[in-house]
Amino acid sequence: MSLSVATITTLSLLPPALLWAAPAAYRRLLLSRAKHRSLTGHSRMAQRVARLLPGYQLDEQRFFCADGCDQNIEATRRAAFYNMATRFAKRYARSVEASERAKLSLSDLQFISNYRVPFQFSNLVKSHLKLGSVVSSSHDVFVEDLDGNTFYDLSGSYGVNLLGYDFYKKNIVAANDAAQALGPVLGMYHPAVIEVAERLRVLSAQDEVSFHMSGTEAVMQAVRLARYNTGKTHVVRFCGAYHGWWEDVQPGPGNPMPPRETYTLEDMSDRSLKALRMRKDVACVLVNPLQALHPNRAAPGDSSLVDSSRRAGFDRAAYTAWLQKLRALCTERGIVLIFDEVFLGFRLGPGGAQAYFGVQADMVTYGKTLGGGYPCGVLCGKSRFMRRFREDRPANICFARGTFNAHPYVINGMLHFLRALDTAAVRAVYEGLDERFHGAADRLNQRLRDADIPVQVAAMSSVWTIMFERPSRYNWMLQFYLREAGLALSWVGSGRLIFSLNYSDEHLNAVFDRFVDACLAMRNDAWWQSPPELSNQSIRRRILKEMFEGMWTTKPTSRVSN
Ligand SMILES: Cc1ncc(COP(=O)(O)O)c(C=O)c1O
Repeated sequence: MSLSVATITTLSLLPPALLWAAPAAYRRLLLSRAKHRSLTGHSRMAQRVARLLPGYQLDEQRFFCADGCDQNIEATRRAAFYNMATRFAKRYARSVEASERAKLSLSDLQFISNYRVPFQFSNLVKSHLKLGSVVSSSHDVFVEDLDGNTFYDLSGSYGVNLLGYDFYKKNIVAANDAAQALGPVLGMYHPAVIEVAERLRVLSAQDEVSFHMSGTEAVMQAVRLARYNTGKTHVVRFCGAYHGWWEDVQPGPGNPMPPRETYTLEDMSDRSLKALRMRKDVACVLVNPLQALHPNRAAPGDSSLVDSSRRAGFDRAAYTAWLQKLRALCTERGIVLIFDEVFLGFRLGPGGAQAYFGVQADMVTYGKTLGGGYPCGVLCGKSRFMRRFREDRPANICFARGTFNAHPYVINGMLHFLRALDTAAVRAVYEGLDERFHGAADRLNQRLRDADIPVQVAAMSSVWTIMFERPSRYNWMLQFYLREAGLALSWVGSGRLIFSLNYSDEHLNAVFDRFVDACLAMRNDAWWQSPPELSNQSIRRRILKEMFEGMWTTKPTSRVSN
């Protein structure tokens, strides 16, 4: 299989047409070179490593000095931790009690409470810093828990909450009213389906539409149709990108049955374009434009925040140039270019990422906010790729239906959402959106720098990520300080803040006051006072050492205990 450097160099000088005659090994080599060097870029290897990774816990003795700090700092952290636990137990008593009860029955809740922080710290955090996952009401930009605590909501309900909770509440009522004469009739359509489909065609600049119950299903449908209509087998996704939880788009950890027909390539890379140009088996390329905020990195959850190496940064011009090259290549090679806008659709502008980056895809998936408060998934695409049957081969079909697709209440939820996009009030919200949110991020960063806090944020419009500027093993503690300051993040913690667009400047300033206060409290409690010689590299070495030690002391379990 190995080729000499001279052969590779010679081959890469050949014109593309001649390269078709190149050996399969060369095409394979190009593919290997198009993978990102990190484990995220090597899904199979990551899967194997994940299986082997020994679980271990830092006991009480080591929990507070995992970075090798001195005894004074350790004592300050220990006292701060238990004081916070006492305050949480009082302040969130009812919410926590409800969550603990729900956790006994809800596997999902068991999962998320286990993965809020790096696993080494998980047991002590779980038993002392309990967070409520049950809330009772929402209004404006706030959610309220069972104890009457009000939080600024920065979770954005997984991105669904674009226009503010009050908008969706009204939208649901309006959709209910409009759908109730027909009620839950399925199989035949509510008349609203016509306007919804027509509006979606215009917004997406695509020819046809299909309805689904979730974003995952919409992506599944897109990929299946791309395969059917191109006759090719493989899916290309880019390193770190999320496209739902089904098999073909999740080749790494998290999926017990890794797919064989998925290539994970490096994002924003000419090597990926080169590899794609040489392949005959690629049916479609999936793009999640949210990756523009952190190309080649997975969703930045706090459970992987083991050091301070998390980086993010949005370069609109560079990402646009990348998408344009990808577009041209897909056209040249007959590959279906799919934009997965389930998360980002309608967040950057009413025309979604296609309009924002000025690049037209062959298919686009939407979901989340498009349901106007109801669950949904939508696929829009060019007719030639949306076709599910052939006139000349009646048995050769591509089946994809679903009992609840185009449910009358959901369709009406979408209709009211789509109509709202045309109102002056919503149009005004989109005016100068990036300037507003990027300006706000700059203001917060300046305040953090002025206070000498080792934290910065990176923003892609209303989606932000927190970065940590000095090496530390305790950055994940910030999520608890933020919660105490009245800021509610989603369970993935500080890696993703999602603002709804009804955040006013006043709201933003109030959030920043609380944010800075939370950081100051964390700093006072010595979590960022690491020994000066600590680096991200030395943290990783320490973890490796702990892991080896853990291998001899930890018994394997078939199920994570809670
Ligand atoms: C880009 C993208 N695609 C697909 C999905 C899956 O959508 P759902 O959770 O509705 O199945 C998500 C969910 O977060 C997403 O962000």
